[in-house]
Amino acid sequence: MFSAVESYAGDPILSMVGQFAQDPRSGKVNLGIGLYYDEQGRIPQMRAVARAKAVLHEEQVPCTYLPMEGDEAYRRTVQRFLFAGQDGDHIATIQTLGGSGALKVGADFLKRYFPDSEVWVSDPTWENHVSIFEGAGFKVHRYPYFDPATHGVDFAGMLACFESLPAGSIVLLHPCCHNPTGCDPDRDQWAQLIELIVRRKLIPFVDMAYWGFGEGLDEDAYVVRTLAGRLKAGLICNSFSKIFSLYGERCGSLSVICSHSEEAERVLGQLKFTVRRNYSSPPSHGARIVSTVLQTPALCAEWQAELDEMRTRMQIMRKRLFSLLQSELPGEDFSYLLRQRGMFAYTGLSAGQVAELRETHAVYMLGSGRICVAGANENNVQQIASAIAAVV
Ligand code: LMR
Repeated sequence: MFSAVESYAGDPILSMVGQFAQDPRSGKVNLGIGLYYDEQGRIPQMRAVARAKAVLHEEQVPCTYLPMEGDEAYRRTVQRFLFAGQDGDHIATIQTLGGSGALKVGADFLKRYFPDSEVWVSDPTWENHVSIFEGAGFKVHRYPYFDPATHGVDFAGMLACFESLPAGSIVLLHPCCHNPTGCDPDRDQWAQLIELIVRRKLIPFVDMAYWGFGEGLDEDAYVVRTLAGRLKAGLICNSFSKIFSLYGERCGSLSVICSHSEEAERVLGQLKFTVRRNYSSPPSHGARIVSTVLQTPALCAEWQAELDEMRTRMQIMRKRLFSLLQSELPGEDFSYLLRQRGMFAYTGLSAGQVAELRETHAVYMLGSGRICVAGANENNVQQIASAIAAVV
């Protein structure tokens, strides 16, 4: 019956997790998957999360089904937090299975109402963006984004591409800490892009998975909040996986910006229907943790302080790696490490150099040359720099 089923080559990011785990070498370093590791190389349990879990344990809330759109308190709190208390009547927000669940529900919803639209993602992007939109039936194209000559954003190319798109085209945007390059447009460039999106009637689909890892929660939410104030149609998804260190709880949200409140009610209904026929309703535990933290001032302040520590540690590691590489290879320019932001840096190393780093030096990174800077710490940063220097 299933003889025609092809074997699956595996996901390049997730497969590396297993490969790394099986590597018996003791000094191995994982700069592959986007997970935040602390200075001891552990995935932390955040203090605010531990305290929220204790509160929930005391409350002993029964574990019944959540509504299709998710927990009411979570949706309200996340919306207020994302949009900084802007009037949310014209925004339909649902709880989702992480950021990927938000992308999937949003993509299915758009395919139903904009069947002829096509999707444009940055070149490069998180490869699963392409799979999710193709899986929803869209044709997916790439817009110019990364300029290898400057290790920065090819803004002119991006602008020219957006200018040429038909109205109703869906453009996938990373509002901060671009995955995989760590390169973001600056404020002026975003202002121009938003202007163009409004004028050309494009549909922005914003994926915010690294909120707070760039400059801070308010700074990183600039694009999302500006779009919500300017647009009459757009989708925003966010993930709490990284910024709450709650990967396995699958906590995220999808917000659809509409023209007015009555339209938002109808859109919410269709989002619920999309959820119902995909997975019926989301899980409750992680959402209760996140909403408890966000709704409790002391916990929220503690979580924000911990988020600041995470961001600062990654910035310190960027500086350490930069100065070690600069002294190993004074003829090369590694200043892009300091300009790129968030969890990832795009090294420009070739697939061959990446393979040599893995095989000879036990340093793992993606084939594209993306490194997760959170995998570096004081104990391994010299080893990483020496290994990179050896293959360059
Ligand atoms: C990554 O880019 O490494 C993360 O978003 C994890 C994933 O699911 O790919």
